[in-house]
Amino acid sequence: MIEQILPPFVTAADTVDDRLGGPLFPEEEAVIAAAVDKRRREFTTARACARLAMRKLDRPPAPILPGVRGEPLWPGDLVGSITHCTGYRGAVVGLNTTVASIGIDAEPAEALPPGVLEAVALPEERQAIRALRRAHPSIPWDRLLFCAKESVYKAWYPLANCWLNFEDAVIHFDPARGTFGARLLVTGPRVNGRRINAFGGRWLAGEGLLLTAIVVPLAAPAESGAN
Ligand SMILES: CC(C)(COP(=O)(O)OP(=O)(O)OC[C@H]1O[C@@H](n2cnc3c(N)ncnc32)[C@H](O)[C@@H]1OP(=O)(O)O)[C@@H](O)C(=O)NCCC(=O)NCCS
Repeated sequence: MIEQILPPFVTAADTVDDRLGGPLFPEEEAVIAAAVDKRRREFTTARACARLAMRKLDRPPAPILPGVRGEPLWPGDLVGSITHCTGYRGAVVGLNTTVASIGIDAEPAEALPPGVLEAVALPEERQAIRALRRAHPSIPWDRLLFCAKESVYKAWYPLANCWLNFEDAVIHFDPARGTFGARLLVTGPRVNGRRINAFGGRWLAGEGLLLTAIVVPLAAPAESGAN
C-alpha cells in the first residue's frame, strides 16, 4: 500500500497482519526479550518487512537494532524508516548514495482523542484543519496531521540527531495532489552541503488507515528529479 506514495528509487514492504513473522537475529531477540506480546509482534513483523524491502535492493538479511533514541540503525549503505499501528506494519529503505533520510508513519483513520490536536497542532494548522474538514469531511485531518508530524520526526532525527517538538514544524496539506509540506521553524540540518528548511511528503487514506511518507533525496530535488 505504501508504495503508492513513494518515489521509484526506494523499496518498501508492508502488511496488515503478523503472518510474515520472524525469525529475528539474536541481537534483535535480546532487544525484545522482555517485551509484551504486542510489542514483540510489531517489532518482528516490521523487521520482516524491512528485510523484504532490503532484498528488493539486493541487500542480504541483517539485524535492524534501535539506536539511542529508538531510531532504526540500518546496515551497510541503507537508510530507511519503520512504522506500525493496529492493523499495519511497514518499512521503506533506500541507498545512502541517493537517499539522505526517510520518514514514514501509519495511523488508524480515526479522529484523534479529545485534547490531542491542541497538544500537537499550531494555531494555523488548526485553522487549516477546520477548512479541510469542511471541504473533505471523510478524511480525519487531525489524525493525518499527527501522522505527518511523526513522519517528519522520523525523517528529521537521523539528519539532526536531536529531538523535534510538534510545534517546530508547520504542516500544509494539498488534498488534490495528496502531498504535504513541513516547514521547519527551527534551523534545519544540512544534507549534502545544503540546508534543509522544509520536507516534502505524500499521504494516503484508505482501508481504514492513514499513511504518510517523506523521502529526502541526497541531491537537491531539481538535480535528482525527485518530488
Ligand atoms: C518516535 C515516534 C515518532 C514513533 O512514532 P509512533 O507513531 O509512536 O510509532 P510507529 O510505530 O509509527 O514507529 C515506531 C518506529 O519508529 C522508529 N523510530 C523510533 N524512534 C525514532 C527516531 N528517533 N528516529 C527515527 N525513527 C524512529 C522505530 O523504527 C520504531 O519501530 P521499532 O521500535 O520497531 O524499530 C513517536 O513515538 C515520537 O516520539 N514522537 C514525538 C516526536 C515527534 O513526532 N515530533 C513531531 C515533530 S513535527
